Amino acid sequence: QQHEKDSLYIVLNYAKNYYQNLLWQSDEGQAVGLSYFKERGFKDNTIKDFELGYSTDAWDHFTKDAISKGYQQEILEKAGLLIRKEEKQFDRFRGRVIFPIHNVSGKVIAFGARILKADKNQPKYLNSPETEVYHKSNILYGMFQAKTAIRNEDTCFLVEGYTDVISLHQAGINNVVASSGTSLTLEQIRLIGRFTQNVTVLYDGDAAGIKASLRGTDMILEEGLNVKVVVFPDGNDPDSYVRQIGATAFKEFIRQHSKDFITFKTELYLVEAANDPFKKAGIIKEIVESITKIPDPIKRAVFFRQTANLLQMDEGTLI
Ligand code: GTP
Ligand code: MN
Ligand code: MN
Ligand code: MN
Ligand code: MN
Repeated sequence: QQHEKDSLYIVLNYAKNYYQNLLWQSDEGQAVGLSYFKERGFKDNTIKDFELGYSTDAWDHFTKDAISKGYQQEILEKAGLLIRKEEKQFDRFRGRVIFPIHNVSGKVIAFGARILKADKNQPKYLNSPETEVYHKSNILYGMFQAKTAIRNEDTCFLVEGYTDVISLHQAGINNVVASSGTSLTLEQIRLIGRFTQNVTVLYDGDAAGIKASLRGTDMILEEGLNVKVVVFPDGNDPDSYVRQIGATAFKEFIRQHSKDFITFKTELYLVEAANDPFKKAGIIKEIVESITKIPDPIKRAVFFRQTANLLQMDEGTLI
């Protein structure tokens, strides 16, 4: 269905331009959307590079405009831009700032949309549904903008959120992509693997982020890639932390706090285990399980040696 896919790309690109125009050209867009981004510390160039936009808080502003330009209702619906319920139809994205999501070749395939003020009756982010051109599990936010830097630096930083990607770019770190809140998939790891074999996980420094890092590292190892992990202090995420300490200090922090997965797990688990030998044994098993996921026998051997040294265990017993 290449023809239908092409129609979706065209209407999604139209929507991207529409939301961008609203952000930069309308009074409301400037007063609400642009000032939101500026308060977050995003510079004009950054906002333009990521093609960020704004959607007004009206029911069908975008839909009406698109239909008047000749786009078919059916295509708008298939693109995930229009929701139809019984007799009524309305825009999916209303009163939110807009983050276009691109595929690897730079075509807009979906949107993430953030509310401006916390509201417990609404999700913070609203995303496009799965469509003919948007398969969430295959996409990493920012890959189009990051791929050249990932190749050149031969490493990829993996973060959780849209704003983490954008803030790091602004800080001069361009080799960064986001899993966008969904738990990391094998397809996403394989996508990174097209550009580099080295991944550093920079998830949020909260309980959810650490749990996701543990799961993520095992999956990355299983795919045969090399993985490191950085944990941020006090519940920070890369966006909040780079704003707090500045670009130079942030890069230095990453250099000093990148841990290989064994050190990451050992430190994390040893805090929990303290002096409990049963817990300690459990932790050692966890680490051994992670190592057994590495497909390359030589890498496995190196990590068994390191673990034996670190935990003062007999290597043969570990193996
Ligand atoms: P900011 O609050 O804007 O800094 O966003 P964040 O990226 O720090 O958000 P958070 O750490 O809470 O979540 C990480 C990512 O998960 C976000 O960038 C989104 O992609 C996704 N996410 C967060 N909240 C929601 C939600 O309510 N619904 C959906 N669908 N995705 C969400
Ligand atoms: Mn498909
Ligand atoms: Mn979080
Ligand atoms: Mn954040
Ligand atoms: Mn976050």
